[in-house]
Amino acid sequence: MITIKRATKKDLKDLIKLRFLAHQYSSKFDRDVVINQNTQRELAKLVEKELEDPRIIYLLASKNNHAIGIAILSISEEIDQTAFLGELFVEKKYRNQGIGTRLIKEIIRIVNKKGLKTIRVTVAKKNKKAQLFYSKLKFQPKERNYILLERKL
Ligand SMILES: CC(C)(COP(=O)(O)OP(=O)(O)OC[C@H]1O[C@@H](n2cnc3c(N)ncnc32)[C@H](O)[C@@H]1OP(=O)(O)O)[C@@H](O)C(=O)NCCC(=O)NCCS
Repeated sequence: MITIKRATKKDLKDLIKLRFLAHQYSSKFDRDVVINQNTQRELAKLVEKELEDPRIIYLLASKNNHAIGIAILSISEEIDQTAFLGELFVEKKYRNQGIGTRLIKEIIRIVNKKGLKTIRVTVAKKNKKAQLFYSKLKFQPKERNYILLERKL
């Protein structure tokens, strides 16, 4: 049975594992996402910190009590009416079973309840599979509205 729940500190180990796998997956598409021997430790610190932050919501998907998917939502109502989906990841062998869709539906429910009007997510240009997934869930590209600027220091 699949369950989707709001994660807590009790789920820390599973969250760190899934966050690391998501990060590893992103590194396939983005040269700036680097994996080294500190990554796991750094991500663990980040997850612990974010779990304390009331603006950040971690959702955990489990199958028969085994954690297999994660979604991380940031909500800053004071700034605008937009929620930001920072991470969405389902373990490979559990994909295409509707779990990603269930996570998005729960996210929509939470964001709606908060009275916000928009959910935003960024996807790597090369991640065509995820783009198709989001387009089926009625997310539309807005890429022409933004360009990414950076300055190397
Ligand atoms: C993107 C991602 C989260 C989708 O998760 P998922 O659990 O596979 O998603 P779903 O199963 O809900 O949907 C995927 C496909 O299964 C189909 N599907 C949905 N419910 C289904 C069900 N009950 N049974 C069978 N197939 C189903 C969907 O129509 C969809 O079809 P498509 O491949 O033609 O688009 C997952 O592929 C993933 O973790 N990818 C790596 C990380 C990533 O790219 N994240 C997004 C960038 S932030």
